Amino acid sequence: MRRGSRMEDKGSLLIRGGTVVTATGRVPADVLVRSGRIDAVGPDLGVGEADVDRVIDASGCWVMPGGIDTHTHLAHPIGRLGVTTADDFYTGTVAGAFGGVTTIIDFGLQEQGGTLTDARDHRFGVIDPDAIIDFGFHLIVTDVNDGVLAEMGDLIRSGFPSFKVYMTYGDKKIGDDDLILLLEVAGEHGGLIYAHCENDCAVTHLIERHLAEGKTGPAYHATSRPPEVEAEATNRAIMLAELAGAPICIAHVTSSGAARHVADARARGVAVAAETCPQYLVLDSSVYDPGAGCEVAKFVCSPPMREHSHVDALWDALADGSIQQVSSDHAPFRYEGQKTGGCDNFTQIPNGLPGIETRLPIVFTEGVASGRLTPERFVELTATAPARLFGLTEKGRIEPGADADLIVVDPEREVEITADVLHSDVDYSPYEGMRLKGFPTWTISRGDVIIDNGVLTAERGRGRQVERIPIDPANLP
Ligand code: URP
Ligand code: ZN
Ligand code: ZN
Repeated sequence: MRRGSRMEDKGSLLIRGGTVVTATGRVPADVLVRSGRIDAVGPDLGVGEADVDRVIDASGCWVMPGGIDTHTHLAHPIGRLGVTTADDFYTGTVAGAFGGVTTIIDFGLQEQGGTLTDARDHRFGVIDPDAIIDFGFHLIVTDVNDGVLAEMGDLIRSGFPSFKVYMTYGDKKIGDDDLILLLEVAGEHGGLIYAHCENDCAVTHLIERHLAEGKTGPAYHATSRPPEVEAEATNRAIMLAELAGAPICIAHVTSSGAARHVADARARGVAVAAETCPQYLVLDSSVYDPGAGCEVAKFVCSPPMREHSHVDALWDALADGSIQQVSSDHAPFRYEGQKTGGCDNFTQIPNGLPGIETRLPIVFTEGVASGRLTPERFVELTATAPARLFGLTEKGRIEPGADADLIVVDPEREVEITADVLHSDVDYSPYEGMRLKGFPTWTISRGDVIIDNGVLTAERGRGRQVERIPIDPANLP
């Protein structure tokens, strides 16, 4: 698999006059980039225009690590419904770059009866020709057997340390018996299980009951997956991880109950980390208004948005450290022709929302600009913690030697959201009409300026697979 080279000669870049914001502080400083890496950071580097290939004037701007989005579903097939997410690895990573993302970790799906190694090789072939930013991928384990358990150690040691599991979702679901086995093997070799937590029996039962009662419209998606099903499965996954002595990451926490289980487990020393996503921080269950008809399908994702008290609990959990990262769970489907396939039956609506491009701006606007989060916490949640959690050694920080993955953001510049100003291949945004700050003026990936004052300058396929190391449970964010 192709990887970035340290010695490549890519020229030099000076980002001058900005405020460098990292997870640990902010300081007026210049950043010097050479050969794709950060060379020096400081207030007076003694470097003039004649000494470098390019200077970016970052006066009035914040210079931050490029965003790392560890939960995207690009070109992701939903076999049950015969649809694929609307962004491929070109449109999806272009959208990410416009939103300040310089690394994604997507997913490679194990076929029933197939191996994880085949899933890895196939997925690399899909991503590599298209991605414009750097990438990794978690392997989704759907069929646990002796061969899979035997493969995991080598995969972990060769740069694939994280494995996604679904505790619900039809043929992708694995049971508790298999989850324990995966946790044990992952724990033994430095792997991390990344779990979608909903109680499958309860979800199946509630869906059947809704349909039997004629509650078939899109709005009923939410009441078929209430917060209790998430909290129960979250607690179960954490307890099984504790039993197995293995670390675990809880995907897309949406509810106060699930957040409380994570916080309690961390307080008793369990190696558990958790993420939430922007949709759960700025939308609530009022989007599921039965009077809005099929439009509600635009907001169908799993888990669904919750009542407003849960939104407040998630912001508290981000501020107090009990949730450690914000990812997008970017799973884009077009409204016309994809979401509308389930206007009369919510089980036929593909689950997921577009969000790779708006993730940083939403957390910036509703977190930093509104005073809920410090700028340093913003960087931690969107770049530094994701790098640490998923074993990305070269990313997520502004220090000499690190990859020069940077964003330059004018903190006052505001954009009104419509589908047209965004770059995903979808016909709506869940955030239409919101005014968001935090979009980058420049996005820099390994020293290349890939978004240059609003213009895309990256070539298709320039993205590279990222280096990833095994996970040390003692080092979780
Ligand atoms: O509704 C969602 N989140 N769809 C994407 C698949 C998943 O659950 O991660
Ligand atoms: Zn999920
Ligand atoms: Zn997902």
